[in-house]
Amino acid sequence: MSAPLTVLDLLKKTQAFLAERKIPNPRFEAELLLSTALGMERLQLFLNYDRPVTPAELEASREPVRRRGRGEPYAYIVGQREFWSMSFEVGPGVLIPRPDTETLVTAALEWIPADAEVFIADVCAGTGAIGLALAKERPQAKVYATELSAEALEYLKRNVARHALGERVASLRGDLLTPIPPHRPLDWVVSNPPYINAGLLPSLDVAKFEPSLALDGGEDGLVVYRRLIPEAARRARQGVLVEIGHDQGAAVKGLFESAGLVDVEILRDLAGNDRVVRGRRA
Ligand SMILES: C[S@@+](CC[C@H](N)C(=O)[O-])C[C@H]1O[C@@H](n2cnc3c(N)ncnc32)[C@H](O)[C@@H]1O
Repeated sequence: MSAPLTVLDLLKKTQAFLAERKIPNPRFEAELLLSTALGMERLQLFLNYDRPVTPAELEASREPVRRRGRGEPYAYIVGQREFWSMSFEVGPGVLIPRPDTETLVTAALEWIPADAEVFIADVCAGTGAIGLALAKERPQAKVYATELSAEALEYLKRNVARHALGERVASLRGDLLTPIPPHRPLDWVVSNPPYINAGLLPSLDVAKFEPSLALDGGEDGLVVYRRLIPEAARRARQGVLVEIGHDQGAAVKGLFESAGLVDVEILRDLAGNDRVVRGRRA
């Protein structure tokens, strides 16, 4: 009889499988996938190297490893991603929140006062990462999170419930600011809209798994900003902040200024790339 497969054997097989499929950092990825499939912390995995794997554990590891081998993002496979130290449910149909987007949250918190009742619109909300982070940090804020995709809206609603913020965060389906009734006051508009040049999308790995509605910014990447910024500048009583692509700073700053916003600034992310444009209502 052959020796039973141990945790270490399974780890090595998984690593080899991922390496063969050109997944970066195959050892690390194998550790993450197996620790999740076996229901243990990564450290426990090391402590259990010599333990035989049960048939149920082997079965539980198969599908996640196969999906990762096809290049599917790890966050979709485990169904969650951390953003602003909060856990967000993610999966096919919604964009995975990126660490760069925390630059937008930080920039918004610099301007939004800590102790006032404010009304914030998170336009193009996806999982709700930005709006929910702001709601957490500003306990008197009311947030309208708008989202066009029916599929993404379901993740948004579940994330609002996950963080028990349903009293202060409304999930609304529709185009940009239109789902927010015009008579409702709005102080701030924040948004991470789709901004990738449509021509580049087919060559990008991100577009293989994440929804094109979340990424496609039209022929020059600026199509959504051209509609959003004038509308946001009209409605926000205090200011507007948007995430941008690294080469869109000057163009988006120009749109802010044309919309009559003042004190317009381009801010960089931790990697030193232009990432946010913000401006105040005159
Ligand atoms: C780049 S993702 C950002 C998601 C989330 N705010 C984040 O930062 O992780 C853009 C989101 O906008 C949504 N969207 C695209 N066009 C829209 C529109 N016209 N109105 C509202 N939402 C839209 C997409 O479905 C997607 O969820």
